[in-house]
Amino acid sequence: MPNLFDRFTVKDVTLRNRIGVSPMCQYSSRDGFASDWHLVHLGSRAIGGAGLVIAEATAVEPRGRISPQDAGLWSDEHVEALVRIAKFITEHGAVPGIQLAHAGRKASCARPWEGDHSLTDEEDGWETVGPSPLAFGHKLWRVPREMTLDEIRDVQNAFEAATSRALEAGYQWLELHAAHGYLCHSFYSPLSNHRTDEYGGSFENRIRFTVETLDRMRRVWPERLPLAVRLSCSDWVDGGWTIEEAIELSKRLKKVGADLIDCSSGFGTPDYKNYPFGPGWQVPFSDAIRREVGIHTAAVGLITDPVQANEIIASGKADIVLLAREMLRDPYWPYRAALTLDRKSEATPPAPYAHWI
Ligand SMILES: Cc1cc2nc3c(=O)[nH]c(=O)nc-3n(C[C@H](O)[C@H](O)[C@H](O)COP(=O)(O)O)c2cc1C
Repeated sequence: MPNLFDRFTVKDVTLRNRIGVSPMCQYSSRDGFASDWHLVHLGSRAIGGAGLVIAEATAVEPRGRISPQDAGLWSDEHVEALVRIAKFITEHGAVPGIQLAHAGRKASCARPWEGDHSLTDEEDGWETVGPSPLAFGHKLWRVPREMTLDEIRDVQNAFEAATSRALEAGYQWLELHAAHGYLCHSFYSPLSNHRTDEYGGSFENRIRFTVETLDRMRRVWPERLPLAVRLSCSDWVDGGWTIEEAIELSKRLKKVGADLIDCSSGFGTPDYKNYPFGPGWQVPFSDAIRREVGIHTAAVGLITDPVQANEIIASGKADIVLLAREMLRDPYWPYRAALTLDRKSEATPPAPYAHWI
């Protein structure tokens, strides 16, 4: 029975434990560049003992940013600042990961703490794109322009180029952000995709964009390194995307080289409801995909307690757990968890701390 503090190996990469920092947008970049903030934010969580530290949704083109302050990797100039961060994380025993993203129809927004609404042109907002000209709704009133087939190719090229840059920067774990209503999710969900060409309509057509994009990434991301995909496993509305479809999509992603499915849900529509929000509420998705597809999974969502996290791993419902907000509260959560679970010898604070605690 695996334990939260057992190592986890995927391909040539070994995590020192099963605890990962979930990707979290910091909305703190200028022109997409990482700064000292990102070094401290991510670096302190590596020092805190996580096995995996995944950097926030990083846009593959400027149009694919959620907000003007999002991180980006759309040019070679963005690489240098990331080298420093990936190196620091590695030096402190964690595996550095990064999530590549395109916000699609949910792009061009104010930061959450500045209102979370679509920016007007006067506020330096920009034209958004998506599978169909359907606005997300509520505060996100921008109507995306329907992408042409050439534009679909262009965005896939951008994912491939950003993948090469992530490798150059020293990341060892790559995740495609295909959840939360952003571009990939908006293609595979019938709620946001009303196309009539080969990218819309049937299940096969709706998943085509995501499967092709991952395939393009896998071609440049070395076989020896793990490639993960974050999915929304349900839209939580009638007539929306379902876990059964997420299982089928995971099978296709496995075929084109996905090593792990990171199982999230929702955020594809503002109208989602009847979701069982509570501790570990998305774990059943991870459990189902892991069993049905035979692929590694990550569980995420209100995992805050060491005993709870250990139970998820020990019961085989996930290979790793990802924590987001709890890691904001306490970057040393892995250290505390090791004490709680009586695995102090596996807690790995750096020498200047270890001597004292
Ligand atoms: C500040 C913040 C930023 C986030 N940014 C991202 C992101 O960049 N990519 C992503 O896939 N999810 C993002 N999320 C979602 C988290 O990764 C995670 O799935 C979610 O918060 C549930 O986990 P938790 O209950 O441990 O917070 C973000 C969450 C927070 C709180």
